[in-house]
Amino acid sequence: MRALKIAPSILSADFSRLKDEIQAVEEAGADWLHVDVMDGHFVPNITIGPVVVEWVRKVTEIPLDVHLMITDPDKYGPEFIKAGANWVSIHPDTCTDPNATLKKLHSLGAKTSVAVNPDVPLEKIERCFPDIDMILMMTVFPGFGGQAFIPDVLAKIEQVRKIIDERKAPILVEADGGIKTDNIDRVFRAGAEVIVSGSGIFKTSNYANTIHKMREAVAQG
Ligand code: DX5
Ligand code: ZN
Repeated sequence: MRALKIAPSILSADFSRLKDEIQAVEEAGADWLHVDVMDGHFVPNITIGPVVVEWVRKVTEIPLDVHLMITDPDKYGPEFIKAGANWVSIHPDTCTDPNATLKKLHSLGAKTSVAVNPDVPLEKIERCFPDIDMILMMTVFPGFGGQAFIPDVLAKIEQVRKIIDERKAPILVEADGGIKTDNIDRVFRAGAEVIVSGSGIFKTSNYANTIHKMREAVAQG
């Protein structure tokens, strides 16, 4: 059976109290921490750089799952690994040779992942399979926290799960965008195991309660 991992996205945290927010979700049962990196080029928003990841690394020991929404992962990916990223996701359209980029990030000690936007067919990323540890299925278009979940992606999550299971590939499936207590069961059932949630956790008043409800929904679903 797949083990559920909940990865709160700090994009929706209160940055004036980032350390407290991180420790609060960790105490509330977060398995990983998702870090959304945006450069104002690949997506129309600017967020977090390696210097912040370096400080985040000092206040938590859970895995840091860095989602690069930037045009130059070859140049900056290594800096995020140096800063403490355990997992690095890239958007394949941002590299001339995604396999080479993934290999490079691997060689620097990170686990790697490719992101699949809602309108991108799985065929586009199949050649990355030998060089990834995870596939990040986007359930919103990248750029902002707090967007509405796109239910059409559920069928694609089922499809990717099937491919991975058939090939017995050691690849995790992560889902990211608009996931909350009321839809997490559908996302898990479709085949995802690492579940990112930003506003679905940080915009609630009791993180432990929310994460508990998420686990309960998955267990009952
Ligand atoms: C979207 C980001 C997501 C997002 C998650 O570009 O990759 O990680 O911030 O936030 P919610 O859960 O609020 O959609
Ligand atoms: Zn993300």
